[in-house]
Amino acid sequence: MTESLARLAVLASGGGSNLQAILDHFDALGADAPARCVLVLSDRKAAGALERARKHGVEALWLPRDEDHRMLAVLTARDITHVALAGYLRLIPADVVRAYRGRMVNIHPALLPEFGGPGMYGIRVHEAVIRSGARTSGATVHFVDERYDDGAIIKQAQVPVLASDTPEQLAARVLEAEHTLYPQCIAALCAGTLSLST
Ligand code: GRF
Repeated sequence: MTESLARLAVLASGGGSNLQAILDHFDALGADAPARCVLVLSDRKAAGALERARKHGVEALWLPRDEDHRMLAVLTARDITHVALAGYLRLIPADVVRAYRGRMVNIHPALLPEFGGPGMYGIRVHEAVIRSGARTSGATVHFVDERYDDGAIIKQAQVPVLASDTPEQLAARVLEAEHTLYPQCIAALCAGTLSLST
């Protein structure tokens, strides 16, 4: 029975609150979970995400930046079927993108195609949204391709931008929306009810 279960790897550079939301969502689904998270990989040794993985009994692996070329071998050695980027700040090696096309997703803390691309991460995204005068922001889940924040959009969740918002307040509101949106998208992808149609 467990053989048909998808095997998910989560790639994260930071604190890992989205990772936690994914782990909690799969736990809550119990026997109905369409996947098991079996690997958390980070380019940062001290990433909070690695600590969260260890606490959850999931393999936590630090892959230093100059060892990116090993990523595909690391994933295939563990029979990883799906990959979710959750605050992973490096560009994914081309051979990994190719191998996992349609099975690798990312979440971005704004409504793509606006406010994405190289250098648009963390608080900078929310600063740019506020600066633009936009009244709505949100989170975007999309397939991963060879460029930052560029692949086909899967689903978005919207949140209001309040006139009084600081970038930090907006970031917190978006992050809360991410924690609902992302686990649901990943579960659908792993269950096979979501696919890359282009
Ligand atoms: C999230 O805002 C996500 O959209 C972005 O990086 C952040 C990761 O946060 N890609 P966390 O480490 O999951 O808390």
